[in-house]
Amino acid sequence: MVSEHGAQVLVASNRGPVSYAVREDGTLDARRGGGGLVSGLSAIGSDEDSLWVCSALSDGDREAVRRGAGEPGVRMLDIDADVHADAYNGIANSVLWFVHHLLYQTPLEPSFGPEFRRQWEAYRTYNRAFATALAEEAAQGATVVVQDYHLALVPGMLRALRPDLRIGHFSHTPWAPVDYFRMLPDDIAEELLLGMLGADRLGFLTTRWLEAFQGCCGAVLGSYEVMTYWPKDATPSVGFRTPDGRFHRTLLGVHGLGADADFLRERSQRPDVAERLAGLREQIGGDGERKVIVRVDRTELSKNIVRGLHAYRLLLAEHPSWRERVVHVAFAYPSRQDLAVYRDYTAEVSRLAAEINEEYGTEGWTPVILHVKDDFARSLAAYRLADVALVNPIRDGMNLVAKEVPVVSDEGCVLVLSREAGAYAELGEDALVVNPYDVVGTSEALLAALTMPAEERAERTKRLAAAATALPPGAWFLEQVEALRN
Ligand code: G6P
Repeated sequence: MVSEHGAQVLVASNRGPVSYAVREDGTLDARRGGGGLVSGLSAIGSDEDSLWVCSALSDGDREAVRRGAGEPGVRMLDIDADVHADAYNGIANSVLWFVHHLLYQTPLEPSFGPEFRRQWEAYRTYNRAFATALAEEAAQGATVVVQDYHLALVPGMLRALRPDLRIGHFSHTPWAPVDYFRMLPDDIAEELLLGMLGADRLGFLTTRWLEAFQGCCGAVLGSYEVMTYWPKDATPSVGFRTPDGRFHRTLLGVHGLGADADFLRERSQRPDVAERLAGLREQIGGDGERKVIVRVDRTELSKNIVRGLHAYRLLLAEHPSWRERVVHVAFAYPSRQDLAVYRDYTAEVSRLAAEINEEYGTEGWTPVILHVKDDFARSLAAYRLADVALVNPIRDGMNLVAKEVPVVSDEGCVLVLSREAGAYAELGEDALVVNPYDVVGTSEALLAALTMPAEERAERTKRLAAAATALPPGAWFLEQVEALRN
């Protein structure tokens, strides 16, 4: 099974670095994405040594696979569209994402019946497709880094096929607290944890998520002689007796992904960003005198955009002197629109923004400027002019917006940050910290942010930017590969 000229470093993720669309004339349009893994992999060396295994996500992607039109260094898997939908929308986005971000309205959900079991079977099939492809492509002793909750079963499946490999897994999300995790049916909770523990090493964004994972192992895997503490060794780990009687120890580590300062600083000074900046200034109005509260999110249920708007409305209600003197620029980019609950949430964000504008807006002042069409250059423009950045998720693995704004901001920016975001561990000291459920507290924090003296704001921004860029994406990825190789 070991390929003779296999790759030395492999990455596996649901969404890959490239996506395709079929143009009207039938030709393929390929788009390359950016992000941490892309720069990390390029830091490894030549394309021949590395391979990225991902899933086809659209009809365009599937067509590209069928035509053999793939990019070098990328293997896209043409997984049956229905299997993918059940695994991705059904399990990954509707169950695992909800569990790790505490999103259920528990009087009625979750309710794990036969439909869930059917989708779980698809999740297994989809994970198996990845494990099989990785086993085919990896050179003897190669290093494999599997990404995220979509692929939690891959490490165990891959280890069974290729025990020679160094297998890592990285979680970009939080990990659920044990009582919440145990909502999953016991056999599924066990399968999920054992799947992850097939890895040699598991990476998390913060110590908090790492310890939550350890806690789940201790509580769920009772019959496997679990050891979450290792005498005479400070490295966090989980050891357990495998079903065939061997002892396996999986190491755990924290890698706090940071912002890419060089890229952001250069990119945010380009002409397209300057153009968006001028456009935004015009929309904001008030001759540059108005303060600006910025938020930029993919519209995920965990981002807490609705409570953010309520907090802003409360500020306008209780502090009339701020009317006409502040604007809330909110970018809520669509995400996972196949799911009704995401569509409803997006609609609620738009409805509430319109309601606030209706209630308080005047001839020359629009209190909330909402954009829902994804535009990276415009996001950077908003980062540059922000006086206040609002990052108030219910729960978030890290939240890179919190790290990017202080780096890009032209004149320093106060960060209002949820204590439930992973970024809180690194940025908490210099942010104004909020409980994301506390709308009154968030409103007060916005007021404190708007009135912070310029000097203090500049000092805090400097420290925030330093902390935010401590581990840029390339170094973040290399750290994990190194740790696996040693
Ligand atoms: C967020 C999470 C990542 C996850 C991604 C998937 O950004 O932080 O952990 O991989 O969502 O998004 P997608 O659009 O592919 O469902």
